Formats: sequence, C-alpha cells, structure tokens
Amino acid sequence: QYANMFTETIIEWYKENKRDLPWRDSSDPYLIWISEIILQQTRVAQGYDYFLRFIGRFPDVSTLADAEEDEVMKYWQGLGYYSRARNLHAAAKSMNGVFPKTYPEVLALKGVGEYTAAAICSFAYNMPYAVVDGNVYRVLSRYFGIETPIDSTAGKKLFTELANEMLDKKQPALYNQGIMDFGAIQCTPQSPDCLFCPLSAGCSALLKGLVTVLPVKQHK
Ligand code: ADE
Repeated sequence: QYANMFTETIIEWYKENKRDLPWRDSSDPYLIWISEIILQQTRVAQGYDYFLRFIGRFPDVSTLADAEEDEVMKYWQGLGYYSRARNLHAAAKSMNGVFPKTYPEVLALKGVGEYTAAAICSFAYNMPYAVVDGNVYRVLSRYFGIETPIDSTAGKKLFTELANEMLDKKQPALYNQGIMDFGAIQCTPQSPDCLFCPLSAGCSALLKGLVTVLPVKQHK
C-alpha cells in the first residue's frame, strides 16, 4: 500500500492536479501508442487535435494497417518528423490486427524506444515499467540532488534504476502519469513552483540551491 514518501506524494499530487487528456480516458494500447508517438516531438497543445483527428480516421490497428500510406501522411501533415508516421504505418502492418501484449514485443515495434514501450505497457497493461523522459530526469535529479549528467551512460543507467525504484509497482500507470505531469506543471525547467511544492521539504536541489542547475547535461 504505502510505497515511500516521494512516490506517495507524486500520486497524491496527481490525483489533485492531473491534466484531462483524451488518451488518458482509455487503456487501449493502440490509442496510447498513437498518442505517445505524436507526443515524442510535439507539444501536448499541438498534438491534441492531431491525435483526435488521427484516431477518428484510424480507430484501430487494422484500419491503420489497411490504409494507403499517402492518406496516413495526410493526417500527419504539419506535425513534422514524418518518419514517425511511416513507422506507425509499418508497425501497424506488422501486427496482424492485434497489438502486442508484452514489453519486448512492444519495444520491437518500429519507432518505439524504451520510453515509449514503458509508457504503453504501464498505461495500457499496468505493467511495472518506469517511464524515463525529460520530466522524470528533472524531477528525480532535483529531488535527490543528482549531478550526474543525464546524457552520460552512467547517468542514463542511474536515473533508469532510480525511476524503477520509485515506481509504485501496484499502480505504475498512476505513478508514471503523475511524475510526467508533476514535471510538466510543478517542477518546470525554468520556473518551478517550489513555494507551493509538496516535495519541497525533502528536495535536495532546493536545500542546496541547485534547482536551476539541475538536471546537468554534458553536451550543450
Ligand atoms: N507527453 C508524453 N506522453 C504524455 C502523456 N501520456 N501525457 C502527457 N504528456 C505526455
């Protein structure tokens, strides 16, 4: 039940502050996959309408697999990074109408990396895989006062391990969504709301005056 203070606080904060986003109303792995691919290089505010239009025309794996590539590209027009759309289409064709159900199979899909596989498996299947994206790097590096560069081999390993340690294994979807929104809304890059932060009492970065310094990147 009780994981730890950090994890509990993230989940409680999320319940009070969660953003109402259309892909969160569903545990359909197909819809979550589409949303995560869009959000890889697109902001939520822009991706929102594209997502709704895309799933309106291609509501499931088979519809997308059967579509002409030209039409898929038309629905992506304006979003950029067009290899995302080509990969989506190719991956849909590889599924034979059924979205894969295990982490290794999801990770093997064209265009899906570790972050996206963890997002799909935790949000759709409630599997215990921690997401590690820019938000997670920022929140963890600040709270735990970690100065290891996030783009170093050692940093990636360290943050992935820490993220999985903090993950609430019984409610991974809730925790993963929570830490992403916490990073997007509360613990922001430039102006984190430390004055009204429920984690401020235990935040190493705040204590040491490192909030604006963390996370550290080795390459500018
Ligand atoms: N960015 C990437 N994935 C997201 C999600 N599921 N919700 C909100 N922002 C996101």
